[in-house]
Amino acid sequence: MAGSVETAAPAPAAATPTPQREFTTDDYFQTQRPPANLAEKKEAMRKWVDKWAGVEGKNVVLVTSGGTTVPLEANTVRFLDNFSAGTRGATSAEYFLDRGYAVLFLHRTHSLRPFSRHYSHSLNPFLDLLTITGDSIGVADPQAAKLLPILRAYNKAQAEGTILSVEFQTINDYLWLLRAATGVMAPLERRAMFYLAAAVSDFFLPEDRVAEHKIQSTKGSLSLEMDQVPKVLRPLVQEWTPEGYIVSFKLETDEDLLVPKARAALSRYGHQLVIGNELHKRKHEVVFVERKMREKSIGDDRIRGAETPPLADSDAEGAPNFRRDLKKKKEVFSETWLHLNQLAPNRPEAEIEEFIIDELLKRHQEWIDRGAK
Ligand code: PMT
Repeated sequence: MAGSVETAAPAPAAATPTPQREFTTDDYFQTQRPPANLAEKKEAMRKWVDKWAGVEGKNVVLVTSGGTTVPLEANTVRFLDNFSAGTRGATSAEYFLDRGYAVLFLHRTHSLRPFSRHYSHSLNPFLDLLTITGDSIGVADPQAAKLLPILRAYNKAQAEGTILSVEFQTINDYLWLLRAATGVMAPLERRAMFYLAAAVSDFFLPEDRVAEHKIQSTKGSLSLEMDQVPKVLRPLVQEWTPEGYIVSFKLETDEDLLVPKARAALSRYGHQLVIGNELHKRKHEVVFVERKMREKSIGDDRIRGAETPPLADSDAEGAPNFRRDLKKKKEVFSETWLHLNQLAPNRPEAEIEEFIIDELLKRHQEWIDRGAK
């Protein structure tokens, strides 16, 4: 088997209760076993990335999509899930392909996929579109007219190999695959974009606390104590791909939290952009939050934004450092709202991802150009 083999300490016997501990990213990878087929998947990703690395001017984006699960049993009958159908990721991947990017699509098994998402079995069952004439099957108008450009784009991506899909199911699969994918893309330096739309579990059960077999309901109520998943955005930005253009998403149900939480993430992790979306409006409205670093003496009033407010953020890994760092520098943020009804007033079928991707392309190109100076 080719490629480097990921290693982790052998797992202790399952279901031995151990005291709860705080996992750093390093602890996590040292104690949690990689998924069985990691080496093969990593090698497939490496080959695919190498192919595009050799094509001048070809940019590559990692799109993560769908929600991760936390299995409660090793022989899994039950698991906790994170909300995400994979619409954002699958739709965005199509627009990236259309704009000439190669797309590494890291997605939850059975979540929506580029192109086929238009014919999801629940919303638009494919069989309902088909007609039979004698022994021939066809697609009647107006469905055929809608299908044609989708099929053309799908066939083009397949023929050119511009999309590689890699599946995850659990939070553990996701973290190992994310690190592997980032590692193989890092040599692309600024040509690599990371578009982290997956909904990632915040809590997990370390494998030494996962029951081996189906938990029996005869034992009465179930109490679970879960550990916090390390925030991998920090090493991703600072160690795994320091030159990549990194976009994370922030999902909130309270709209007022979107901008402060997005700013906090930028300050904490130091990446380029957070796209904030409120659960119910996410298909029509998003906000781009970016950090503009300026020396206090410059007093640049051309940048819309404000100084970072002090944080009281429960998921604030490293919050004390963040506050200390604030004293050293003045941070200014800009916010750009995208409203679909303003961007495409006469196109009822328009998707906000089209506009998200076009905005991102401009920023990514600036990032590449700045690196070339
Ligand atoms: O698929 P759809 O149904 O269309 O839904 C799309 C979406 C709403 C899920 C998507 O647009 C979205 O907002 N995704 C991010 C969800 C979210 O808020 O994730 P988070 O708060 O758990 O993480 C925020 C960021 O931190 C993420 O970019 C994630 O990559 C990163 N993270 C999260 C957990 C963790 N342990 N480490 C991380 O680095």
